Amino acid sequence: MGETHVVRFEPVGIEIEVQEEQTVLRAASEQGLMLMHGCKEGQCAACKSFVLDGDDIELDKYSSFALPDFEREEGYTLLCRAHVYEDVTIELLNYDEEMIHSGLPIQTATMEVVSNELVTPDLHSLVLSLVEPTEFAFFPGQYVEMTVPGTDVTRSFSIANCSAKTSGQLEFVIRAYPDGAFSHLLGHSMGPGTKVEVVGPFGVFTLREGRDSDMVFVGGGAGMAPVLSVLRQLAEKGSDRKITFYYGARRRHDLCFEQELASLGEKLPGFRYVPALSEPDDAPWNGETGLITDVVRRHESELDAADCYVCGPPPMVEAAMETLLQLGATDKHIYYDKFTTTGMS
Ligand SMILES: Cc1cc2nc3c(=O)[nH]c(=O)nc-3n(C[C@H](O)[C@H](O)[C@H](O)COP(=O)(O)OP(=O)(O)OC[C@H]3O[C@@H](n4cnc5c(N)ncnc54)[C@H](O)[C@@H]3O)c2cc1C
Ligand code: FES
Repeated sequence: MGETHVVRFEPVGIEIEVQEEQTVLRAASEQGLMLMHGCKEGQCAACKSFVLDGDDIELDKYSSFALPDFEREEGYTLLCRAHVYEDVTIELLNYDEEMIHSGLPIQTATMEVVSNELVTPDLHSLVLSLVEPTEFAFFPGQYVEMTVPGTDVTRSFSIANCSAKTSGQLEFVIRAYPDGAFSHLLGHSMGPGTKVEVVGPFGVFTLREGRDSDMVFVGGGAGMAPVLSVLRQLAEKGSDRKITFYYGARRRHDLCFEQELASLGEKLPGFRYVPALSEPDDAPWNGETGLITDVVRRHESELDAADCYVCGPPPMVEAAMETLLQLGATDKHIYYDKFTTTGMS
């Protein structure tokens, strides 16, 4: 094992110890520190920070879109890729003071498949049950890493339910790609009883407590998962906030969880679900059509005070964030998870 060094974060004045083999982000998560991040693979730039003091930092492979060479030369770094070989001081560029100390300890759990069903032609609802340990704490909206069975390759998946306390189960919504190392197994070998290693929880796509501002969720594809998780949490609390969920799908048959979403209004008096089809076909449809960003523009005008949550494929997330900012939302109150896929640059 290599040496351990101290990383000091400014302006929050928090210090952690980081082993040379660990990335700074991983060490922070293990020590209960919730730092802003997304892909954890050097692709999304959500963890970009600035090195105030210290030179001996090496980065694992990353995308130059997330950290262009000139930015690295200026002193920027990616916490999810950075290994430190001396004590360093790092300025966090994007952090949430409310969240930073609220991290839950990372657990490794063995789980087994309870059910694996298609809910659209390419989205699977996967339910896993805890084998060991029997408890797994997470905040609604967080995600875990799952190991592709029989390999040491991992993939991130957002949890769709809002607690494992009574059920001992975690629920996921996963898009199947024909060549996907993890997702293609869903259509082949992941029947009930299949064991899956899960590590987590991670992520900051979580409810900020103590606020009563309007909430706007924008999701696409498997981005349904963490939104469902947070909506289910809000329903359990009986929240009376004004909540709108804009969900983009291509065709009618790509919509899922419709019954549940329709009935959420019984527990959430301020809830409105606005699905939109970008490529409507012959199936009967009298709802919204077009890109989900255009639909948001048609329905919203002033988002200055709103809490916004965006989740789905990276191009959709980027377009939605631009739209929300143009509609007055503030950076600080837009929470997002980009579902970056390994190998995307
Ligand atoms: C924080 C986070 C949370 C996530 N949560 C979820 C979730 O809840 N549900 C979910 O489904 N995914 C989620 N993802 C994405 C997930 O982690 C995987 O990257 C994704 O499922 C693909 O993994 P795979 O092993 O199946 O495919 P990979 O082996 O990574 O990809 C293999 C091939 O699949 C094809 N492929 C992969 N991605 C795409 C694409 N976007 N478009 C077209 N072809 C593609 C390409 O041919 C690629 O070469 C999340 C990602 C992050 C970072
Ligand atoms: S680049 Fe570090 S979390 Fe995505």
